[in-house]
Formats: sequence, structure tokens, C-alpha cells
Amino acid sequence: MVQQKTVWITGASSGLGLHTAMAFRDDGWQVIAGARSFGKDGSGIDGITCLPLDVTSEDSIRAFCESAAAIAVPDALVQCAGMLVLGSCEETDPEEFRRVIDTNYLGMVRINREVLPLMRANGGGKIVLFSSINGLMGIPFQSAYTASKHAIEGYAECLSMEVKPFGIQVMLVEPGDHRSGSDKYRPHAAAMGGNSPYAAAYESAVRQIHHDESNGSDPDILGRKLAKTLDRKRIPFRKRIASADQHLAVYIHRFLGARINSAILRKYYIRQG
Ligand SMILES: NC(=O)c1ccc[n+]([C@@H]2O[C@H](COP(=O)([O-])OP(=O)(O)OC[C@H]3O[C@@H](n4cnc5c(N)ncnc54)[C@H](OP(=O)(O)O)[C@@H]3O)[C@@H](O)[C@H]2O)c1
Repeated sequence: MVQQKTVWITGASSGLGLHTAMAFRDDGWQVIAGARSFGKDGSGIDGITCLPLDVTSEDSIRAFCESAAAIAVPDALVQCAGMLVLGSCEETDPEEFRRVIDTNYLGMVRINREVLPLMRANGGGKIVLFSSINGLMGIPFQSAYTASKHAIEGYAECLSMEVKPFGIQVMLVEPGDHRSGSDKYRPHAAAMGGNSPYAAAYESAVRQIHHDESNGSDPDILGRKLAKTLDRKRIPFRKRIASADQHLAVYIHRFLGARINSAILRKYYIRQG
């Protein structure tokens, strides 16, 4: 009999994390999901064990890992928890930057520190870290988010080299726009308003960002692709899941100089007057 595999998924109460959790469940995995909005009784999503988890709190992470490990040590860990703050670099407060980095990047660092010893003792495992196209290029008025995703990209390269001898594989997921995210996790920086010197450019960029997300790719397909990929013995280090034009944008970005890249992105996001 084939033994059921276990995946732990963070940020699984909504968006891509939720769709990914449901795809793994449908593929026969035992899924243990974490998010702040889950209660302690394990309920929340059919066929999935849901446990409370705040990735910015060491205590919460420890409690989550203890409860989850009492059920099953993970064969795979998928880290989706994330948020962003929209705002100009000038008007986004360091505390707002801190919140984004703390959730998106340090959250992953903290959880990996708890999970790596379990995977080492188990003889291996797979760690999936949610980056973004923003992990590869900057987008105006998303600097905190872009910085957090660039940090994840660099961190993942280091991690994968270090843990390879223990049979642990690391994969970065770089989604393009998907119609899954909630505005709840995309607050505007407190200082952004009509009096901002960036107001017109900001409004244009936010409109474009919103348009691209609401017309983005299907989150179910992303979930299914990930579940299928994690079923393989060897997983790729990078998996970009994006529309054809976003794949092309990344490809072009790699070969063009900074000045041309910046002109293209400014023209796309900042359409004033
Ligand atoms: N949607 C896209 O187009 C897109 C594109 C590229 C990358 N991504 C990445 O994909 C991931 C999911 O984003 P999304 O837009 O699909 O989902 P989302 O709707 O923004 O959901 C965010 C998830 O993160 C959880 N979360 C936020 N802060 C948390 C914390 N401190 N501790 C634990 N969980 C926390 C939320 O749950 P609770 O509030 O219940 O804690 C929620 O489940 C993120 O890493 C995002 O950067 C998304």
C-alpha cells in the first residue's frame, strides 16, 4: 500500500494558498493548513486540518509546528502566507515596510527553522516558497512587497545549496497575476492620499495592478500544477506560473538594460492624463 504523503501549507485560508491546499487534498495528500483566521478545533476547509498560525509570531509558529507534527511530519512544506502594502517609497513608513518583510520573508525563515530539523530527521523533504514575478523585477508603488520577494529569491538560492545533502529540495514559485488575492491583504500606505505628490501616478499604477489581478490567471490551475509537480521525485528550483505575456516580460527584462526596462514599466503602469 502506498503511504499517504503530508503537506503543511501556510497562508491557506484564502487566495493561492487555499487553492493549493484544495488541489493537494484532491490529489490524495494529507493537508495541514495554517492561517491566523483558523480556530484551534482543526475545522475550516473540508478534508483539511486547519490550525491557527501567525507567521510573524515565534510562539504561534511553535504551537502550529507542534500540533502539526503530532499528526504527521511533512513530506512537503508550502509557504504561501503573504501581504503587501501599496505606496510610494517616500511615503511608505518603515513600520509598513517592516510588516511586509516580517510576514512575507521572515515568516518563511522562521518556519523553515522549525521544519528543517524535522525533515532532516525524516531523511528529506520538499520546501516550496512563494515568490512572485516581483521577485524578479520591481513594479512602481510595490516597493515593500518587491523587496520582500527579492529577499526570498536570494534566500532560496542559499537554502537549496545548504540542505541538498540532507535530501531536502527547495522550489521557488513565481506566480504572475492570479485572480485570487483579496484587497484585505493589500492595504494602502497610511500616508497615501489626494495630497501626495505621487497621487496621479499612484492612482494609475494601482488601477493597472488591480486590473491585472482581477483579469489574472486561474488559481485552481496553479494549485493543480503545484500538486502535480510535488508528486515528482525531483522538483525544479524555479517554477514560474504566469500568462504568456508575463513570461515574455520576465524574459525581456533579463536582457534589456535598466533604463529601457524602467521606461517600459513606467509606460505600462503610469498612464497619466
Ligand atoms: N494573487 C496573485 O496574483 C499573486 C501573484 C504573485 C504572488 N502571489 C503570492 O501568493 C501568495 C498568496 O497570495 P494571494 O494573493 O493568492 O492570497 P491572499 O488572498 O492575499 O491571502 C493571503 C494569505 O496569507 C495569510 N496571511 C497573511 N498574513 C499572515 C500571517 N501573519 N500569518 C499567517 N498567514 C498570514 C492570509 O490568512 P489569514 O489572514 O487568515 O492569516 C491568507 O490566507 C502570497 O505569497 C503572494 O505574494 C500572489
